Amino acid sequence: MSDLNKIALKILSNGKGILAADESNATMTKRLEAVNINSTPESRLAFRETLFSSENMKECIGGVILYDETINQVSNSGQKIPEMILASGSVPGIKVDTGAKNLANSFEEKITEGLDDLRYRLKKYYELGARFTKWRAVYNINNKYPSKLAVHSNAHALARYSALVQECGMVPIVEPEVLMDGDHSADICLIKTSEVIQKCFEELILHKIDLKGLILKPNMILDGKNSKNKISNEEVSFKTLECLKRSVPSEVPGIAFLSGGQSELEAAENLNLISQNNNTNFIMTFSYGRALQQSALKTWSKDIKNIKETQKIFNHRAKMCSLASQGKWSKELESK
Ligand code: 13P
Repeated sequence: MSDLNKIALKILSNGKGILAADESNATMTKRLEAVNINSTPESRLAFRETLFSSENMKECIGGVILYDETINQVSNSGQKIPEMILASGSVPGIKVDTGAKNLANSFEEKITEGLDDLRYRLKKYYELGARFTKWRAVYNINNKYPSKLAVHSNAHALARYSALVQECGMVPIVEPEVLMDGDHSADICLIKTSEVIQKCFEELILHKIDLKGLILKPNMILDGKNSKNKISNEEVSFKTLECLKRSVPSEVPGIAFLSGGQSELEAAENLNLISQNNNTNFIMTFSYGRALQQSALKTWSKDIKNIKETQKIFNHRAKMCSLASQGKWSKELESK
């Protein structure tokens, strides 16, 4: 087993998944201001370290994706944040793209940037303790998009990023996110997501990526947010599995879904059905941001001193996601 494969399995195995706490300062500011909290380096750290020191980190969270600010911070108890994550048996990770920018010659679409000084930044993050990384590409669906140009250029960037990350001894998370926005059907989402993921693997293979040392972070196959039709959760699981079976090479050890705007409940229920119906060899788990943090953030904002109450909420969500990744989640457990 290669070292990269070992890291990937440590993050994903035994009912564990990933906590995506890598919101940029701009995004985190939006989330904090929405619950009337002033966004400062101190308040961002205070919320995040409340999560990282929660009890169920040990049993349920195999990896935490950090943002540049957080990986350089020290907790109130004097521990460096990557050390705090390691102490709970979890692997520290880092978001390394520098965001999605307008794509030249297709201005309504995005290209994710961050390749220029990446080799240098990766070394620094490795020294700080990171052992995996994240790069997110985003694609819109409508009658024109995603264009071939967006599909190709983002796949190329994801492959170049992955090659540099593996060269530095870390596991790349490859995240091609086809957005929920729009009124498209789940079948269109299935076609477009398959096309996007297939192009990513074409480029990853061209760039000689060790597929056993990589984690795919895709969207689930859903109807567009504004679509009048809503397929059942069971159908979401079948269509998602169909898409992944046709698009992902069997060497890839695991798939960690983003929640992408689903509610906490939907994200747990859909993952649970995907795991129950999983007829592939891939580990299926979560790499959730909002679907792990939303309720905890609401509770925290009411009384930032009441760490216990926030941790209680986060522990429950982490446990629900962990059970869902093993196909053992139920609505009854959810309300306990
Ligand atoms: P959400 O689960 O909130 O979609 O966030 C996951 C993520 O890391 C997006 O890049």
